[in-house]
Amino acid sequence: MNYSNDIVREVARRRTFGIISHPDAGKTTLTEKLLMFSGAIQLAGTVKARKSGRHATSDWMEIEKQRGISVASSVMQFEYRDHVVNLLDTPGHQDFSEDTYRVLTAVDSALMVIDAAKGVEEQTIKLLNVCRMRNTPIITFVNKMDRETRDPMELLDELESVLKIECAPVTWPIGMGKNFRGVYHLINDEILLFAAGNDRADQEFQVMKGIDNPELHKMFPDEMAQLKMEVELVQGASHPFDLERFLGGLQTPVFFGSAINNFGVREILNALLDWAPGPRERDATVRSVDPREEKFSGFVFKIQANMDPAHRDRIAFLRVCSGKFERGMKINHLRINRDVKVSNVVTFMASSREQVEEAYAGDIIGLPNHGNMQIGDSFSEGEALQFTGIPYFAPDFFRVARIRNPMKIKQLQKGLQQLGEEGAVQVFKPVNSSDLILGAVGALQFEVVASRLMNEYGVDAVFETASINCARWVTCDDKKIMTDFQNSSAGHQLAIDAAENLAYLATSAVNLRVTQERWPQIVFHETREHA
Ligand code: G4P
Repeated sequence: MNYSNDIVREVARRRTFGIISHPDAGKTTLTEKLLMFSGAIQLAGTVKARKSGRHATSDWMEIEKQRGISVASSVMQFEYRDHVVNLLDTPGHQDFSEDTYRVLTAVDSALMVIDAAKGVEEQTIKLLNVCRMRNTPIITFVNKMDRETRDPMELLDELESVLKIECAPVTWPIGMGKNFRGVYHLINDEILLFAAGNDRADQEFQVMKGIDNPELHKMFPDEMAQLKMEVELVQGASHPFDLERFLGGLQTPVFFGSAINNFGVREILNALLDWAPGPRERDATVRSVDPREEKFSGFVFKIQANMDPAHRDRIAFLRVCSGKFERGMKINHLRINRDVKVSNVVTFMASSREQVEEAYAGDIIGLPNHGNMQIGDSFSEGEALQFTGIPYFAPDFFRVARIRNPMKIKQLQKGLQQLGEEGAVQVFKPVNSSDLILGAVGALQFEVVASRLMNEYGVDAVFETASINCARWVTCDDKKIMTDFQNSSAGHQLAIDAAENLAYLATSAVNLRVTQERWPQIVFHETREHA
């Protein structure tokens, strides 16, 4: 197929990625340093301040102001080395939610940050599993080498065994904590010397060529002897970097550094530009879509309740999958088959929202949404392209929704249905009771929903603990077996979700296992695709 040069060039220079990490590993610090490289921000502390809420502007949701954290993720676009980089924030901490997972369906690669003193932590595992669903390539940054850390070799072992991904160390640390001297670049045979307190992006670290460089051995006799031994060991025991294996999500290049000292950050940014993929083909049900195609297409992966609750004003985050988006163009909203003229579009340039004039595959645009867009909705210039791979995730937290004023039951139902469609929370109706069960992957989602029910629907709801441990969507090829299952005692634990899918609400992990063993033909799914 012939593609226009303009689109081919723009697609090739795009990189869209998210950072996956456990809280406190250094995601915010690293984000800030990455933005500093691009000149998008000049001052260290800018992103940090937003995290702590000091810069909360009037248009953030009330709950966000109260807690000083970002309820929903945002997008930061910056330019570096003639590339356009879209960094999608994956909210962590208490604001961990389904958005965190879904953001990863809109990226082309991920940067995994590991705290060198802690190693692989719970949230990292969860997020990596989501990346694995699409074989997303992952670059690993082992952070905080300026502190006392665990043995680097042991960390690599843990990454490989817990995350089941091959590690290819690209840089190797020389010492740690007070004796951290820098890193050795295994591919370039260069040593990058560490200097603490580097708060500016343009400050270069000293680079010395060659592991056998006599000058280095004079400077650090003990460390260099140790390094030589370790490097031999690492080269013997681990994998050399292999671009194909990285792109297939089978291998991760590993870098060591210290985000707070800006050390090792340039190396990962370069790896991202040089090795990580640009926008790739995406499955759109009827065919796959090449990002370089002339015609625009994209899908909504997140809806953020926005700024003015009185108007139920929301922004739908759309990932462009092909073509060129231009402000004012008409695009077709596939699910409701309606053309919409989008003139009021926003993107997130590091910290401020700006009007988008044009966007290409890999970019994220924010469409104003007055309540008719849902997670997973596809848009195109007319062709019926329904993008796949935007899943709902089995919740880990459950509550029963009740209202103080029974007269408001209709509003509660309506509110929950809309918030469910938007992806703010999942709603299950048990088959044998009139309860409304809410499911979330992060506990803060309930607070957000309670606050929005109050502000947007005038419903004062209370959420009580539910004796449910986990949910699994159930399917079965054999209709008779499914009916038997529904009529069995396990059938009492079934519920219908917002998209009319059947789900099994297990009271405990043991309960789930026993039911699975008793009903081997029934498939219990941890995710479901957007309907
Ligand atoms: P997060 O977004 O992943 O939650 O992590 P964040 O960047 O907020 O970092 C968590 C803590 O780790 C912060 O300290 C931060 O300064 C520190 N940190 C990040 N990178 C490094 C590093 O390379 N070396 C060292 N020694 N520390 C690092 P804090 O005390 O929680 O916050 P603050 O008082 O520094 O603001």
